[in-house]
Order: sequence, then structure tokens, then C-alpha cells
Amino acid sequence: MDNHTQKEISRRRTFGIISHPDAGKTTLTEKLLLFGGAIQQAGAVKAKHAARHATSDWMSIEKERGISVSTSVMKFNYRDFEINLLDTPGHQDFSEDTYRVLTAVDSTLMVIDNGKGVEAQTEKLMEVCRMRNTPIITFINKLDREGMAPLDILDDIEDKLQIECTPLSWPIGMGKRFKGVYDFFHKQLHLFSPGSDTREQDGVVINDLSDPVLDELLGSQAEELRQDVELIEGAVNPFEMKHFLKGSQTPVFFGSAINNFGVKEMLDAFVEMAPPPGSRAAVSREVSPFEKSFSGFAFKIQANMNPAHRDRIAFVRICSGKFRRGMKVVHHRIGKEVALANATIFMAQGRDNVTEAFPGDIIGIHNHGTIKIGDTFSEKELLKFSGIPNFAPEFFRRVRLKNPLKAKHLQKGLTQLAEEGTVQVFRPITGSDYILGAVGVLQFDVTMARLKAEYGVDAIYEPVDLAVARWIECGDRKKLAEFEKKNTANLARDSQGCLSFLTTSEFQLNYCMEEWPEVEFYKTRDIN
Ligand code: G4P
Repeated sequence: MDNHTQKEISRRRTFGIISHPDAGKTTLTEKLLLFGGAIQQAGAVKAKHAARHATSDWMSIEKERGISVSTSVMKFNYRDFEINLLDTPGHQDFSEDTYRVLTAVDSTLMVIDNGKGVEAQTEKLMEVCRMRNTPIITFINKLDREGMAPLDILDDIEDKLQIECTPLSWPIGMGKRFKGVYDFFHKQLHLFSPGSDTREQDGVVINDLSDPVLDELLGSQAEELRQDVELIEGAVNPFEMKHFLKGSQTPVFFGSAINNFGVKEMLDAFVEMAPPPGSRAAVSREVSPFEKSFSGFAFKIQANMNPAHRDRIAFVRICSGKFRRGMKVVHHRIGKEVALANATIFMAQGRDNVTEAFPGDIIGIHNHGTIKIGDTFSEKELLKFSGIPNFAPEFFRRVRLKNPLKAKHLQKGLTQLAEEGTVQVFRPITGSDYILGAVGVLQFDVTMARLKAEYGVDAIYEPVDLAVARWIECGDRKKLAEFEKKNTANLARDSQGCLSFLTTSEFQLNYCMEEWPEVEFYKTRDIN
């Protein structure tokens, strides 16, 4: 591999932001784009959909194709680094995509609301990070408001997320008394002035906390800081790169995204600490990003919202080699060669002239429904990347056709939508129903709308008393047969024919698990 390519790989940082809705993910994303020069003005667009609006100008693909892909991948330069920020859809859009995006990143930024601590959605997303031991950097947001004591938040994270915290900055007061943060790493004090944009300002260097300058700047809060620092130094383990890289320790930063405070320090530390693209497991072997041959896998499929066009964009994460526009790769599942002539390289700036992309980058491949989530593309060798799973659904609906003559269309539509990862489809062992499963309820609306628009199927949903699903495996065939016999009413096959156990509650699940200790119940299943 040539030096240029090696350098390109090493300067890439591909990450996702995880948070509970309202913690400040959108606000923080906007500030990060601002530092990257991908947008010129922050705060112009108010809150919630700030990044969405901010980005739509430069992602003209959205206009060209009438679909909303702009917030999915945001690519920008910061210092010498090339950053790919992958959106993890939240709020109403929460879906399996949100989880699956995290299988395509090399690190994660976790945003936590100072007033709320760790919330439910963060816990779920964290579980996905843990599957791959993804390194996590934590940003505690909204210090300009009253919230939990900093040490209590750290306790909360350690307790609920089972990850060791090591603060790299420390807040001085909060809410009205918020004075700024002390950066342990660079031994600098960053002073906060409400409402002002502090992004260019350098901190005051304080090498020794007994320096009287600290008292001049912070008044009585200087002593509080000294005591806090003493306490932390005694109670907290120092930052260890190797623990961070295997996802067992998270460096923590404090700030206020809306005031753009503490964001630059966090971003600077982030680009230096977060790993460049690493090796990735395929079924047959590990694939290094520095291998000469191109390889990548599809982790998300975005359908065209215009029903007249059945084309889709498959989001492919490059894992090795170099992508060149027009290159030919093999789509292994169907054994065909495809020319990547009109692949889109997602860029925040200067999109037009881009002709090559590197490991860590995401490209969009146009197709007409031939690409499935988890599909691998490579130049020659037959490869299949692992670790791109389905996630156990938490919401369920039964589908009833209005016109029974459309049964074939329904089957075709659901098969395809399941392959795209829009929804999961289960067929109970007894009966001929279709039970749909999703991790976010919006997935049901999307499925129904697309069944109608693209497959001409008129169907309705019926509620079904199910809340939990697990994939079943058992090494002992006799036991498995026995289990199947006793639990027929709760068993179904998913769209890939895998045995699944569906039930009404966690309580019922636990009961069954206790009764059948030989049987394995899985929350995720790798897509074949
Ligand atoms: P999300 O993407 O994680 O859902 O959060 P988003 O950035 O949309 O932020 C949620 C709300 O929190 C927004 O309020 C936003 O302005 C506010 N916020 C973000 N960062 C900070 C911060 O550092 N300090 C304070 N005080 N607020 C912050 P909103 O949508 O304008 O209004 P509302 O939701 O409070 O009604």
C-alpha cells in the first residue's frame, strides 16, 4: 500500500454520537460542523433540527434524489483529520438503523444531560457499543444549567453503563455559578462567559493549582476547584489509552454545547485519542484497513421517498483498500460484479471533485433493491463481514391483508423490506400470519406506506400481545426438539428462517429461560 493511502487511513476518524433525545446531540453536532468549517454560522437555526437544516444546503443529493440522506453521514476536516460523523437517528426516527450505524463506527461520542444523568436510550445504545468494545468519549452537557453534582453523574455512568469514567476536564460550579472548566490534560483554565461564542479563545495556563491567579479569576470558587481536584485525584483512575481503546474506560468532558463551551477542547482530545479505522472481522479472517484490495459492507439502506423510483442507496463502510470511482467490485451474496460508477462519496465540503475514498469513509451505492444489509463488496476474495446484526424487536404488529388476492405481493414486499432492514418479519410456527417486529414504532408506519406505494398492497395492522423476542439456539438437538414441542405457540421463524421465541413480557421470557437452561436466548442475530 502506498504512503499516501496509509496516511489517508491514519487521519480518518469515523464516529457516531449517542444520547437520549434532548440531551443536546443536534446542538453539539452543529458546533462540530462549525469547527470543521462545514457550516459557517452556528445558532442561526434554532435547536432541534439545526444540523438537519444546516447540512441540507451542501448535500445536494437530497435535492437531486428527493430523499433525506444529508444527516446520515457528515464528513468534514478538522485540523489534519478527516472526520466522518454518522448520524444515529433518534426521537421519532429511532429504529434498527440507529443501532446498526454503531456497527460501522470506530468510536462513539456519548452526550449526557447534566440535569438527567444516564437515560434509557443511552443505555440501549451503549449495549451496542459494548458488543464491539467501541471506545467511548463522554460529554456532559448543559453545565450552564443546574444539574446533578459532577461526581454523582460519574457514579451514575459507572453504575448504569458499567464503564469506568476518568474526567479530563472538571467544571467549576454550574448553572448561575458556572465559571468554566479546568482542563487536566493541558493544565488550562477555560473561563465561561454566558452567551458568547468562546470557540477561538485559548485557556489560561495554570500549571499549579495553588497559583493565586486562580483566586483572582475564580474568587471563592478557586478553593472549591482545588478541593474537587484533590478528591478526584484520590478517587479516580488516570486515563489509560489501552482501557479507552477496548471500551472499558471513558474520558469525560464537561461543557455547554449551546454556548459552544468545552466543545473545542473535547474535539481536540477526541481527534487525538479516538482510533483510526481498525481491522474488522470477516467470517474467514480479520481484514486490515491497510490491505491493498478494496472491501466494505452495507450497514444501512435508504429508500427513495419517491414511489415512482424504486432505487435505493446502500450505505457502505469501506474496510480496506482504496475506492476509486468506476472501480469494479464483487457483490458476493449474488456473485455478480458491479461497477461503482455512480457511487456517492458523502462529503460536507468540496463533494464534486472527490474520486477516491478510504477505509473509514462511507460511500453510497445506488441499486434497485439488490443490496441487503450486511452484504459485503470486495475486489476478488470471497469475504463476508460479521457483526452486522438484527436487534431483538420490542414492538410488534400483526398484518392483515384487505385484499387476500394480494398475498404474493405482501410476501414479496415484506421480504424485501426485511432485507433492507426496514422491519423484521416473523412467521409463527403455527398459522400463516405475518408478525412484524421493530425497535421503534415509526418503522411500522414506514413499512405500511411502502407496502402500499411500492407493492400495491392494502393492509392493516392489528395489535398483538407481544413485547419481547429472542433468537433461539441449542447445541443439544433432543432438548431443542423438546423445547420446540413445549413452546410451539411462542415460536416463529424470522425472514431468514431462524427460530425465534416471542412472548408478552420480560417476566415470561425469564421464566422460560430458567425453565430451559440448555437453550440460548439471543438479543441479536448476525445477518446471514
Ligand atoms: P437532541 O438532538 O439530543 O435531541 O437535543 P438538541 O440538540 O435538540 O437539544 C435539546 C434542547 O436542549 C434544545 O432546546 C437545545 O437548545 C437545548 N440545549 C442543548 N445544549 C444545551 C446547553 O448546553 N445548555 C442549555 N441550557 N440547553 C441546551 P430547545 O429545543 O430549544 O427547546 P426545548 O426542547 O427546551 O423546548
